[in-house]
Amino acid sequence: MSRPKYQPKLDLTDWQKTNVSESEKILGIVAPELHSFIEEHASLSQWMDRVREGYNTELYDKVLGEIGHELDHHFLYEEKYILSRLVKHIPETEVGPIYKLKSEHEIIRKHYEEAKIMFKNHDPENPSHELIQKMGLLAYLLKKHIEKEDHYLFPLFSLVLSKDEKEEIARDVKAEEMRRGMESE
Ligand SMILES: [Fe+2]
Ligand SMILES: [Fe+2]
Repeated sequence: MSRPKYQPKLDLTDWQKTNVSESEKILGIVAPELHSFIEEHASLSQWMDRVREGYNTELYDKVLGEIGHELDHHFLYEEKYILSRLVKHIPETEVGPIYKLKSEHEIIRKHYEEAKIMFKNHDPENPSHELIQKMGLLAYLLKKHIEKEDHYLFPLFSLVLSKDEKEEIARDVKAEEMRRGMESE
């Protein structure tokens, strides 16, 4: 008889599932040039909803891949293209939005690296409590980070940044995506 899989009891009272009408309303208060970021948030957020449902080897594998991609693209573009322009309006980097956004990225990167190692070494027949907890924490941190960006930061970036700056961000992201696409061919 196989051992019953550990399924943690998660507190979901602080968790709101991604819903399409909310994402559409957020797009209404974010500048069109920054919409690609909001769309990526919605897609990643849906994956996080699934992680919170419990242990699943294929899902964890897929989700870690998705998160890794986001860290390498989306997170990097926020830092490289948005924060580098925001600093002209809010020069403080030891407290405030630039500091907080970067430090949340760092915390998420750290938990992602740890989760990746734990997942690589785990036994699917007997997944550890620690792995499931780590994946739950990673999902929670990402979800909260996305909520903050969707509801507060991106609507405010949309107002603070000039039209030219927002167009430059969209252009820079597109150019880097194209460049990377060509390099990987
Ligand atoms: Fe972010
Ligand atoms: Fe983001």
